[in-house]
Amino acid sequence: MQSVLVTREIFPETLQRLAQHFQVTPNEGDVQHPPGALAGQLAGHEGVLVAGGERIDAALLDANPQLKAVCNMAVGYNNIDVPACTARGVLVTNTPDVLTETTADFGFALMMATARRIAEGEHYLRDGRWTRWSYNLLTGSDVHGATLGILGMGRIGQGIARRGALGFGMNVIYHNRSRLPAEQEAPINARYVSKEELLREADHLVLVLPYSAASHHAIGAAELALMKPTATLTNIARGGIVDDEALAEALKRGTLAAAGLDVFEGEPNVHPALLTVPNVVLTPHIASATVRTRRAMADLAADNLIAALTGQRAPTPVNPEVIR
Ligand code: DGY
Repeated sequence: MQSVLVTREIFPETLQRLAQHFQVTPNEGDVQHPPGALAGQLAGHEGVLVAGGERIDAALLDANPQLKAVCNMAVGYNNIDVPACTARGVLVTNTPDVLTETTADFGFALMMATARRIAEGEHYLRDGRWTRWSYNLLTGSDVHGATLGILGMGRIGQGIARRGALGFGMNVIYHNRSRLPAEQEAPINARYVSKEELLREADHLVLVLPYSAASHHAIGAAELALMKPTATLTNIARGGIVDDEALAEALKRGTLAAAGLDVFEGEPNVHPALLTVPNVVLTPHIASATVRTRRAMADLAADNLIAALTGQRAPTPVNPEVIR
C-alpha cells in the first residue's frame, strides 16, 4: 500500500477518505515541526497533502526520490518549487475555483472595512474613547461610486471587480499580465490600464496577483508614492508583494489613507511597524476561511492525491506535463 503524509491537522473526513486508499500519516495535534523537518517526515511516502503552506524545495525532493505527488490545499503555490518538481517527474496540484467567491467576498469586505475604518472604530469603542458625536469622527472614504483598482485580474480579481461594478456602482480599472477578452470586460465595464495609471487613479486598490520573483515588492515606496493620499490598499494575495516596511511608513506619514492586509512578508510574523499604525486592518490569512470552502479545498486536494497515485487524471494539476 502506498503512503501519504498530511502536513497539518485537517478534517477527519478527509483523513478517512485518504485512508481508504493509502497508509496515512496525519499530523495529530497539529504539531509545529522545526524548519527542515518535513524532508525527514516524508521518508517512505509517495504523496503529500500540503496544508499550511509548507515549503517543498529541491533539497526535500532530492531526499525523497520516492515522492510522486505534492497536493497543495491552496490556490497559490509559491511554497512549492514547481520547476524542481517537474524536473523530477513529481506532480503538483492546487485548489483553484472552489475558493474564488469566498476569497472575493473577503477581499471586498476587507477593502470596505479599510475604507470605512471599521476596525479602528471598534477599537475606539472598546477602549472607552467614545464619549460623544463629532462631525469628523472616524470619517473614511466612500466605496460606492469610487474607482476600484485591481492588480492581478484572475478569477478572484474578477470576482472582486464584479462585486464592485454590479453591487456598488464602482468604476473598475485593472492591470494584469494579459488583458481580458472584451466579452469579460464588458459586463463589468472594466478598463485595462498601465500599472502606473492604476496606482495613480485607484481610490481603492486591491492586490490579487500571484507571488513570484517578478512580483516581489511590486508595491514598494516608489509605487506607494504614486497613489492618492486618500486611497486605500488591500492585499489578499501574498506577503512579499508589498514592501511592508515602506507601507507602514506611508501609513504613518499619511501619504496613503489606509490599508487592509490579510497576508504578510514572513507571516505569521508581522512587521512591527505595521502593529503600531492605527490606519491598517490586519487579519491572519483567512480570505478563504469559511467552513464550506475549507472543506471544498480539502476535498479537492484529496481528490488530486487519490487520482495522482491511483493512475487517474488529477482534476487540477499545476504541471500537467509530468502526467504521461
Ligand atoms: C490560497 O488558496 O492560496 C490561500 O491563500 C490559502 O488560504
